[in-house]
Amino acid sequence: MNQQHLNLNRTNDKMPIIGYGCWKVEDNPEQVIYTAIKNGYRLIDGAAVYNNEIGVGRGIKRAIKEGIVKRQDLFGIYNENIELWNNYHNKAHVRAAIDRTLKDMELDYVDLYIIHFPVPLKYVDPAVEYPGPWLIDGKVELEKSPMHELWAEMENLVDLGLAHNIGISNFNAQLIMDLLTYANYKPATLQIELHPYLQQTSLVQWVQEQGIQVTAYSSFGPSSYTVFSESAKTATPLLEHDVIKAIASKHEKTPAQVLLRWSIEKNVAVIPKSMSEERIRSNLDVFSFKLDDNDHQEIKKLDENLRFNSLFAYNIRIPLFN
Ligand SMILES: NC(=O)c1ccc[n+]([C@@H]2O[C@H](COP(=O)([O-])OP(=O)(O)OC[C@H]3O[C@@H](n4cnc5c(N)ncnc54)[C@H](OP(=O)(O)O)[C@@H]3O)[C@@H](O)[C@H]2O)c1
Repeated sequence: MNQQHLNLNRTNDKMPIIGYGCWKVEDNPEQVIYTAIKNGYRLIDGAAVYNNEIGVGRGIKRAIKEGIVKRQDLFGIYNENIELWNNYHNKAHVRAAIDRTLKDMELDYVDLYIIHFPVPLKYVDPAVEYPGPWLIDGKVELEKSPMHELWAEMENLVDLGLAHNIGISNFNAQLIMDLLTYANYKPATLQIELHPYLQQTSLVQWVQEQGIQVTAYSSFGPSSYTVFSESAKTATPLLEHDVIKAIASKHEKTPAQVLLRWSIEKNVAVIPKSMSEERIRSNLDVFSFKLDDNDHQEIKKLDENLRFNSLFAYNIRIPLFN
């Protein structure tokens, strides 16, 4: 495997352009993460809300113990990309949130700590429920935690050495524009839903122009959302789409490799998730071919501005992306 990297602003850290995503890694996360690292993944995208940080941390630890990766060599080639959950946006709770993640994962620092959603939910004591809930008694309850205060605390985590880089997820251009007016440390990355049905071309271009790297989540489109969302149930799965299949067979690659390669060629990082070792391995094999102009033109036509990770799909009535 010939890994490529994206340079992060301020630190110039090299973030692998392909990593492993931990959402829905419920069954034996230790073994799955160990397997991903053994097969060459050097970026793990995790989150408090995925409820598997202890197992993910154990997988990392086992890989280090067996000499597959050395912790002292991890800087620059390995990123723990762990996300701050919504209930801990208040400046009083950010430090405790990262401390909990670091303790659960048995790590001293993360390479990249990102705000999962720009949604300041009411604080719930982790002793009562961890990670905190979206809904309290069936309702969304917000708290007064302005983004500029949260961002200052994120910057403080950098100064304390607990997070080497800080970033954002599910932010739109308006909020990023505002954040850039007060940030002392620019976000290193923006993580967003991105696939051929939701290409967000102008957002990606503008964000990259600001010196912020973009990471795509859900590169395979509806695959992860069929249990939550009507639109995901009815959309043609991207992995089975005729256009993607034709491009894949032309290059003698899988549809998944085509979808990942499409992002990478836009300098957008990808973090595919799979529970199967064979797919874990094949998803990483995206550096041995190139899409041509015609492939890009055909994929461009698939853009329908079709989003699957809408909060409404989970019965959370916040029109975050409207
Ligand atoms: N910031 C955010 O708000 C946010 C939101 C969503 C996701 N994320 C992150 O992004 C990561 C990736 O997104 P995702 O989990 O939604 O979905 P994804 O990686 O686009 O798709 C995962 C699905 O595709 C299947 N799959 C994986 N490789 C395959 C292959 N080669 N051929 C056929 N099927 C394949 C998986 O099944 P198998 O497991 O059976 O292979 C799984 O059902 C997440 O794990 C998470 O870390 C972040």
